Amino acid sequence: MEHDFHGKVVLVTGAGSGIGREAALRFAQAGALVYAADLNASGLEETHALARAAGGELRTAVVNVAQEDDVATLLARIDREQGRLDAAFNNAGITGGTHRIEDYPVDDFDRVVGVNLRSVFLGMKYEIPLLLRQGGTIVNTASVAAITGPAGMSAYAASKHGVQGLTRVAAMENAARGVRVNAIAPGWTETPMVVANSAQNPAFAALASRAIPAKRGAHPGEIAEAALWLSSPASSYVHGQLLVVDGGMTI
Ligand code: NAI
Repeated sequence: MEHDFHGKVVLVTGAGSGIGREAALRFAQAGALVYAADLNASGLEETHALARAAGGELRTAVVNVAQEDDVATLLARIDREQGRLDAAFNNAGITGGTHRIEDYPVDDFDRVVGVNLRSVFLGMKYEIPLLLRQGGTIVNTASVAAITGPAGMSAYAASKHGVQGLTRVAAMENAARGVRVNAIAPGWTETPMVVANSAQNPAFAALASRAIPAKRGAHPGEIAEAALWLSSPASSYVHGQLLVVDGGMTI
């Protein structure tokens, strides 16, 4: 189904790379005015250039999604400039290192949980008041690690399980108020996050070589497409779900 987001204001975090960039471009191509947020200013500039080349409308915001002031300032800006928000895709994330729990550095654990989980809480905290005005959607990026426990990835798995919990609570709190909240669980997706890790991290290489029934990793666009669907009226009766998009990895 062709998506139509004309007249809609959409926020995408982690839009300077990978899945977030693909989603931002697709929302813009479907007519949305997109706020693309990321910590990485140069990545955002590339996303901006790609959107402009495709004729889409996209504004950038250099934001640390784990910092309340940054998130509050961004949503205040969207409110000031547009007076509305129709969809939010809370997608920024990091994997962190791979260590057994007894060796996991506490600072790293806090950092991963901050970027992956605290960010989703903060995002929703400041997005929901805007979304409630005219109704809207939230999609949070979890992972197959929201339903499995990959050894060595305690912080990542805990943060992504947490994203699923936050998504369910937000869906319950808002289902009758016109705001639908869902999450996606990508499997192995060919983005800089995975490419960077696979070079230095045997756990990722092992994961890559393990059988994925579809026999390939996802293109980031295949994950972005799920986010667009969950943000569109086509999914109007879907609340609080974790949509697994993993080539069959968790069957
Ligand atoms: P990526 O590394 O290509 O993109 C992530 C983006 O998030 C980067 O542009 C980065 O600068 C941004 N970011 C990191 N920390 C930030 C912060 N504190 N504030 C603002 N922006 C920040 O990675 P990818 O693969 O596109 O990941 C997107 C999401 O998908 C993440 O939440 C990740 O955990 C999730 N995911 C990815 C999978 C994969 O195989 N690539 C599998 C399952 C989930």
